[in-house]
Amino acid sequence: MSQLNIIILAAGKGTRMHSSLPKVLHEVGAKPILGHVIDCAKALSPDKVIVVYGFGGEIVKNAFSQENITWVNQAEQLGTGHAVQQAVPYLEDNAKTLILLGDVPLVDVESCKNLVAQSTHQLVIQSFNKADPTGYGRIVRSPDGQVNAIVEHKDATDAQRNILEVNTGIMAMPNKYLKKWLSRLTNNNAQGEYYLTDIVSLAVAEGVSVSAEITKDEWSVTGINSKSDLVQIERVHQSKIAQNLLNLGVTLKDASRLDVRGNLTCGRDVEIDVNCVFEGNVILGDFVKIAANCVIKNAVIADGTKIAAFTHIDDTEIGQNSRIGPFARLRPGTTLAADTHIGNFVELKNAQVDIGSKVNHLSYIGDTTIGKHVNVGAGTITCNYDGANKFRTVIEDGAFIGSDSQLVAPVTIGKNATIAAGSTITKDAPADALTLCRAREQKSIVGWQRPVKIKK
Ligand code: UD1
Ligand code: CA
Repeated sequence: MSQLNIIILAAGKGTRMHSSLPKVLHEVGAKPILGHVIDCAKALSPDKVIVVYGFGGEIVKNAFSQENITWVNQAEQLGTGHAVQQAVPYLEDNAKTLILLGDVPLVDVESCKNLVAQSTHQLVIQSFNKADPTGYGRIVRSPDGQVNAIVEHKDATDAQRNILEVNTGIMAMPNKYLKKWLSRLTNNNAQGEYYLTDIVSLAVAEGVSVSAEITKDEWSVTGINSKSDLVQIERVHQSKIAQNLLNLGVTLKDASRLDVRGNLTCGRDVEIDVNCVFEGNVILGDFVKIAANCVIKNAVIADGTKIAAFTHIDDTEIGQNSRIGPFARLRPGTTLAADTHIGNFVELKNAQVDIGSKVNHLSYIGDTTIGKHVNVGAGTITCNYDGANKFRTVIEDGAFIGSDSQLVAPVTIGKNATIAAGSTITKDAPADALTLCRAREQKSIVGWQRPVKIKK
């Protein structure tokens, strides 16, 4: 295999986005448009990825500082040919080059592989039959079907404007030809630009063969120029993700009402109801059920757990067979073991909850360690912040926190301790005792017996 260089053209301003953000940094599936193109390039295992940037300069570069990219500045945008000329010093003599456009996020890896494979001795162009070809470069073929030229819309005759086969801008060729042709480009055309597309007639004049591969997948060659294009591509991207999940056996109540802005990995027999948004990396185990209107970000949810409607989860791990929500909010640093129950209007932040514990109603639990089989009553607040510093609350195994209690951290509630409802606890509560603090003083009753369920 000969070496592969990939040039991504991304210097355009994107005026029609009406935004101060460079066009290629607008996002599809929460990833910059250019990021999708870079991912496609990387999937082709190239020796070099060159991005030609211009508008937005450093902002674009900085957004991809983790990537191994050769950045080339095109200070003035004098056309696609001029853009590629800027990359010439970085092209390897014996390599091929694939040219991609930085504003085509759904570019398809397999079609690119095919173009590259065919470009060993020729120029190969990705074309598309467009119902309304206005604005595009037309593929001009001779009667026997040979590609003769690409004529830009503004330079085309009326007859040429009737051609529906258009240039997508994606092409591949050997570098030895590309370098030669680029040095011969002129800007004698309607737009006064150096057109990359003029290399087609230069190839034909030299007797180098040119072929155009017609793709049927319009979205894979569609560039984004406006917010309207962006929202359409977003839907296409989302429907592809939904289809993949369905193919893997995930049940979606409505494939058109799911948004995955990152990576969603699902086990077997997962069900997802409508209007859920998944962000970052989310892993759902077998038999996990997500009810309607949940937002779940960077989370691992183990087998059999059910998330009820309107739950918000961020940077949290949840063990097996737990019940979360409706209307629960799990904030970063939270870890829930198996069989935990977190109910409505409960907020957990940096809380570690062990097996079988329950916080079912209207509570704030922050910077807290909860042991096994603890019951936290309605309206319990861990007061973790004194206005300057944060402190931890520890609730040991088997403790019972009565409703409407405040636990003022740092504080520890001992094993099997009971806190009476309405208490404000400021000192450690001993194990096995009832602690109550409703009036001015806090007292503990050692040897207190919990009520026993009355048999009916
Ligand atoms: C170009 C093609 C046209 C094709 C169309 C597909 C040329 C002359 N024309 O049209 O045949 O049908 O794409 O969308 O190549 N860019 C730069 N620097 C420049 C100019 C453009 O980096 O100086 C980049 C843009 O950021 C964009 C890409 O090149 O990613 C295409 O530019 P754009 O202006 O959208 O395409 P056209 O020139 O209209
Ligand atoms: Ca243009």
